[in-house]
Amino acid sequence: CGIVGVIGNPQTKDILLHGLDKLEYRGYDSAGIFLADGKTNHLVKSKGKIQNLKDKLTEEINGTMGIGHTRWATHGVPSETNAHPHTSESGRFVLVHNGVIENFDELKTNFLAEDTFIGETDTEIAVHLVAYFAEKEGMTTKKAFRRALKEIKGSYAFALIDSEDSKTIYVAKNKSPLLIGLGEGFNVICSDAMAMLTQTDRFVEINDGELVFVHADGIQIEDQAGHEITREAFVTQLDASDTEKGMYPFYMLKEIDEQPAVLRRLAQTYVTEDGQTTIDDALLTHMSQSDRIYVVACGTSYNAGWATKHAIETMTGIPVELHVSSEVGYRLPMLSKHPFFIFLTQSGETADSRQVLVKVNELNLPALTITNVAGSTLSREATYTLLLHAGPEIAVASTKAYTAQVTLMNLLGKALGMKLDRQEARDFDIVHELGLAANAMDTIINEKEVIDQAMAQLLETTRNAFYIGRGADYYVAMEAALKLKEISYIQTEGFAAGELKHGTIALIEEGTPVFGLITDTLTGPHTRGNLKEVESRGANTFVIASEALAKESDQLVMANVHEFLTPLVTVVPTQLIAYYASLHRGYDVDKPRNLAKAVTVE
Ligand code: G6P
Repeated sequence: CGIVGVIGNPQTKDILLHGLDKLEYRGYDSAGIFLADGKTNHLVKSKGKIQNLKDKLTEEINGTMGIGHTRWATHGVPSETNAHPHTSESGRFVLVHNGVIENFDELKTNFLAEDTFIGETDTEIAVHLVAYFAEKEGMTTKKAFRRALKEIKGSYAFALIDSEDSKTIYVAKNKSPLLIGLGEGFNVICSDAMAMLTQTDRFVEINDGELVFVHADGIQIEDQAGHEITREAFVTQLDASDTEKGMYPFYMLKEIDEQPAVLRRLAQTYVTEDGQTTIDDALLTHMSQSDRIYVVACGTSYNAGWATKHAIETMTGIPVELHVSSEVGYRLPMLSKHPFFIFLTQSGETADSRQVLVKVNELNLPALTITNVAGSTLSREATYTLLLHAGPEIAVASTKAYTAQVTLMNLLGKALGMKLDRQEARDFDIVHELGLAANAMDTIINEKEVIDQAMAQLLETTRNAFYIGRGADYYVAMEAALKLKEISYIQTEGFAAGELKHGTIALIEEGTPVFGLITDTLTGPHTRGNLKEVESRGANTFVIASEALAKESDQLVMANVHEFLTPLVTVVPTQLIAYYASLHRGYDVDKPRNLAKAVTVE
């Protein structure tokens, strides 16, 4: 979910709506805003995307302060009733929330009557609790808010308005992200800085457990005990134009196109002209002392981890284990004597990954976060951070963050291998090889129409599809399948080519599309054999191969690149396949159903 707030600005409505547009990637099941000006109040909510909310807002609806929310449903179906902001029974208190209140059932029983509730969300309890302490127990709003927070367990970013007080927005957070932006004569609240870049580039961080009172002319921060804290604002490096899609019909296409530039930028950022790494030596020393690397991630980032396991192991000689965050959040895997954790996360906010980091920190184990967002929660809480420098990724389906992660993991592997004085690292001329990979990506991107035409035929009506490959090609197949299913809704599996015959081949029917990825010199020929097996059972095959292994009948041939870097190139046609499949099926490519880009709940 995404949260915004404004106080002290006659343009509040427009600022909130613009902010919600920018946060829509965090969820788009429903949206709502509350506007006040000291005299009149307006609460407007709607199901579905932000446009539906905009359609409901007439000229007269305005205010000088307000809060807004765009939702990714956890508790309660997407509906107008369950949309935020939520109000107390009296209507006096209005609140938006991002996160999950874990003890809401218990709080309901302890404090409130069942008929107080109108919806099914966990959030409602928060606003009713504040009202309970303020109205039944006579506390000031500040005290009531603090008292309610004492009771609430779980993750949250809250913005609360007391409609009898037009001078304050009450804000608090625990685990969920929230920033205060400082304007000229007004202030704003947002889940991430991008939402308010048109208003300010000065932001103040809030730590878990703090309470913030946001006024038009300043802010007050208090810790849990009520002591006032002073904190300087930071100036964000984000550029508002990075978040525009320009001439592109969808962000996803823009972000696919940006990938070669991201690769080149990463090479320049992390390697000096004389070939030295710029990666912090303390990090490399720490890693060089470890006997096993644990990579923890979700979704596309998890797939990026797999795509680099072989390269890192080869260059460093240190074994690498991959784990899905939500599987190890409550039970860490068996650890070696000197484990080192790497968290791969585009947003730096994924709750499942953070859950693991909290455990790792409790054990005082070293961790590195690799993320695209400076100052994000996982970046702040890990021992070390490396940034992806991919620029904001807006499309829900991740593309350039994946290739940036694969690139940076290789740069890290090379630097660590050099530190460990390994021949395998010395042999890998990474800057040169990344240059070749970027060029190979450019070639595919320039020929995207070929994929467009092929996909119109192959995927417009199919129910399911397969990606198969071995080794690095298998790992890319996993990512390719995820991409295709998340935006085209075609049920797709990424399969180890040799494993298909042990069961899943039963799903192959006349016309089932099977994409074969063939870049691995050792195993590529065997994948060809597996493609023959599915063809004999009626499959419609489409082969994506590197030049060295290509046959004349292959549909797409890519330039050869270093074996560590093949995922960077192979993934590009698969991203385009997903893009065009979604487009031909008539879907909103950037905002697929049921998903959100940053999932800040468990
Ligand atoms: C969400 C997104 C995925 C993403 C995953 C992990 O589910 O929809 O595209 O891969 O979160 O996100 P992270 O920001 O941690 O890489």
